[in-house]
Amino acid sequence: MIHDTYKRPLRDLRISVTDRCNFRCTYCMPLDEYEWLERKEVLTFEEITRLSHLFVSLGVEKIRLTGGEPLARRDLHKLIAKLSALATPPDICLTTNGSLLAERVNALKDAGLRRINVSIDSLKPDRFRQITQRGDLDKVLEGLFAAKRAGLRPIKINAVIERGVNDDEILDLVRFARGHDFALRFIEYMDVGNANNWKSDKLVGKKEIIDTIHAAYPLQEIGRDKGSAPSVDYQFLDGSGDIGVIASVSEPFCFSCTRARITADGKFVTCLFANHGHDLKAMMRNGATDEELLAFISNVWQKRADRYSEERLAALNSPTGYDPREHRKLEMISLGG
Ligand SMILES: C[S@@+](CC[C@H](N)C(=O)[O-])C[C@H]1O[C@@H](n2cnc3c(N)ncnc32)[C@H](O)[C@@H]1O
Ligand code: SF4
Repeated sequence: MIHDTYKRPLRDLRISVTDRCNFRCTYCMPLDEYEWLERKEVLTFEEITRLSHLFVSLGVEKIRLTGGEPLARRDLHKLIAKLSALATPPDICLTTNGSLLAERVNALKDAGLRRINVSIDSLKPDRFRQITQRGDLDKVLEGLFAAKRAGLRPIKINAVIERGVNDDEILDLVRFARGHDFALRFIEYMDVGNANNWKSDKLVGKKEIIDTIHAAYPLQEIGRDKGSAPSVDYQFLDGSGDIGVIASVSEPFCFSCTRARITADGKFVTCLFANHGHDLKAMMRNGATDEELLAFISNVWQKRADRYSEERLAALNSPTGYDPREHRKLEMISLGG
């Protein structure tokens, strides 16, 4: 187990398996075209498996596959099978927009996937299309229910709430999730990347989300899973399920952040809001040994001092305020949300 400068252990790894996506969610990837990575720049499944093995040996317990849209990577189940076969298999999760899930979920399950997060910000087909610019809600719901039939558990729904866009759907999403036994995680709208035109007045904070739900369905706080999960969870007092809020803007949790990220092109990144990464792909392709990679990764983590969201909150509360354009960041799609 290794610790950073604030004594935070390295426990979780998010791996972006591709920077590409078939959606263009306005808060994430609003532009039509990006400078996509060339195929040869993207880590192979063998490289991802090698790095996963090394990170697990340093204390990582949970690996989340994300993107971009991870199911845009053909044969993703083959990667899951490789990760499941590691000597110490990590807890493997997948975050997906769900559009390609219906036809792929059985292969994913057979390969060893147990749990999944599906992103759904609206239950109104027209609005869903507006937010994602390309998405078909029916197709996503088909994928969600196929995951349920396949026996994946827990199935979590991720919903980003934006003022004036879908803040009137908080209770509809709660009713849907409770009615079908899905866990629901609201995510505060964040200033990820450089193109999403983030403004603080579009933020719907955790307090407002919880107050809205509590008024209709009384809640009791449970806290963060294992003390370090991004989401603060609540259970319904009537016993039917739980919800959570990931409040990285209004209640930052940098102090307990145990997450590292690997970009689709193999950069090791120590914060979601970082502006650079450390090139593990170049090291691997130049013949670095496992010992050299382990020493490098340990050294980077031990020097880690990131606490971007706490600094952002301090700036938001200061007389000068916070201007996201002053902070150049890596794009969420290559970084893995
Ligand atoms: C970047 S996506 C990648 C995986 C997959 N394409 C999906 O949408 O689930 C991972 C998560 O990040 C969330 N996300 C993207 N941009 C965000 C933003 N600006 N603020 C908050 N969450 C965001 C998405 O809603 C999604 O739940
Ligand atoms: S949130 Fe996911 S589905 Fe939407 S554009 Fe970003 S990567 Fe694609």
